[in-house]
Amino acid sequence: MNYKDLAASAIEAKKNAVPTYSKFHVGAALLTEDNKVYLGGNIETSSYSLTICAERTAIFKAISEGERKFKAIAIAGDTDGFCSPCGACRQVISDLCGEIDIVLVNKNSETKIYKTSEILPHAFSDDDLK
Ligand code: THU
Repeated sequence: MNYKDLAASAIEAKKNAVPTYSKFHVGAALLTEDNKVYLGGNIETSSYSLTICAERTAIFKAISEGERKFKAIAIAGDTDGFCSPCGACRQVISDLCGEIDIVLVNKNSETKIYKTSEILPHAFSDDDLK
């Protein structure tokens, strides 16, 4: 799958987001090495800190289905700027997806692409636990 289609999937994933309090819709589409796509939207609860971002929804769905190898994640926001993953999601991407392409998508379907290590340099990892 090309990144234009992956970006379109992330935009589609925004539709199932539940941003009850922030009203800020985010969608994510995670591409596995064998070209399967897992979608995720941000989900908020009345206990605000229990919110989960779109990226982590998609990643945890994929991991819990047995997926382990990934190529890219597209993240779509509803703004002119690009919705960049929060710090927690950067750590989860780094640990569970490795060095993949991070495709940011704005509300006009424009894209910007980074690598995991560009958005989280000097990452803490399981190597540090040894
Ligand atoms: N959010 C995401 O889903 N992904 C990001 O990359 C940044 C922020 C969500 C969390 C919260 O539901 C809303 O956006 C506002 O912070």
